[in-house]
Amino acid sequence: MTDPLPFYRTLRDEHPLYYVAELDTYVLSRFADIWEVLAVDDGTFVASEGTLPAASVLAGQNSGPVPDPPLHPMPFHANFDSPIYDDVRRCTSAPFRPRKVTDLADRIRALANQRLDELLPRGTFDLTQDYGGIVAASVVCDVLGLPVDLAPDVLATVNAGSMARPGDGVEVANARPGYLEYLVPIVARRRADRSGGASPIVDSLIDHVLPDGTAFTDVEAATQMLGVFIGGTETVPKIVAHGLWELSRRPDQLAAVRADEFNVRKAREEMIRFCAPAQWFARTVRKPYTLHGVTIEPGQRIITLLASANRDEREYPDPEEFIWDRRIERSLAFGRGQHFCLGVHLARLEISIMVEEWLKRVAEYRIDEQAAWRPPSSFQWGWNSVPVDTRTKG
Ligand code: HEM
Repeated sequence: MTDPLPFYRTLRDEHPLYYVAELDTYVLSRFADIWEVLAVDDGTFVASEGTLPAASVLAGQNSGPVPDPPLHPMPFHANFDSPIYDDVRRCTSAPFRPRKVTDLADRIRALANQRLDELLPRGTFDLTQDYGGIVAASVVCDVLGLPVDLAPDVLATVNAGSMARPGDGVEVANARPGYLEYLVPIVARRRADRSGGASPIVDSLIDHVLPDGTAFTDVEAATQMLGVFIGGTETVPKIVAHGLWELSRRPDQLAAVRADEFNVRKAREEMIRFCAPAQWFARTVRKPYTLHGVTIEPGQRIITLLASANRDEREYPDPEEFIWDRRIERSLAFGRGQHFCLGVHLARLEISIMVEEWLKRVAEYRIDEQAAWRPPSSFQWGWNSVPVDTRTKG
């Protein structure tokens, strides 16, 4: 949990299908294997125990296939297979379609510049939390219909929630009370008063009819927004801060990226490969599947170590090197198949804009490497704190 990368390399080289008996779970670490299994879309791999099951869930052994959970009280929809999963995911997807996301560009740029107006006169601040963190949390507030002045609180709540402790793991499906304090009132307010501007996610969830003819309660509807609330807040800021740090360590690469605004988009893809903080996601197997000569039986689980795939030397030569213009033909950083990241277009746009505006406005910057902090975690292993100094010499 403090530095998993050497373990990933050993897994890739020596145990590409590693069985963890206490969890009855197979761990996949090679890019090609994960690419193969996540493309299977016939109900073989389903997240019926969650895409991030708690350690206590994994500790239980299943004697056969695990059915979808009961409809009520409904957990996060990722735990269901199609069609329920797809129908509910569609309720939350409208603001994240490519054209809708493009419409957010001016707003994101304005938010980034507002932050820089405030931060640059200070000279020293936290690149992860104070810059990207507040911008990303503000966008989440906008999209979900929360006032943006709650962005610092949203950021702090999500940060606290993703601190995985040894033995505990993380759990998204069981709604965490701290998150629902923000999300339930959004649903309740909207249900009471549908006037005013569009609120596409909440409106679709309120209007959604489940296969048994029932609708979501306020808590159930709020629970379906957890993915956006968490995913939209916690990943992008760590990638922006860590990516700018990697560039600052390599002045030639920094100069090359600065040379042309279009280069930021290329560098962004390497930042995502190199810095993406989510380490793994799980599926529970419903139909037998054979990999490396081993048949994984219904009820057993697989863990896809995406962070290992991002550094697989079989896919990316010299994977431990940050190379801003690396050729990236295939990527697993946003997952693949059924649970492919809902926020992929927003994430790319946010990272590009935040890096562009930073490079435009900051002539020189220095990261305090000794003070940077990345808490040990089995899940979100990313640079939570990256202190930076932007005071130029003289
Ligand atoms: C560069 C930043 C990001 C990365 C690397 C990333 C990565 C991922 C990955 C790997 C998955 C798949 C999980 C699985 O296979 O079980 C995922 C799912 C998801 N992401 Fe992202 N994400 C990012 C940003 C965002 C943003 C900005 C949002 C905001 C909407 C978001 C929302 C979601 C949601 C809701 C899911 C769940 C999808 C589902 O299970 O249907 N992500 N993300």
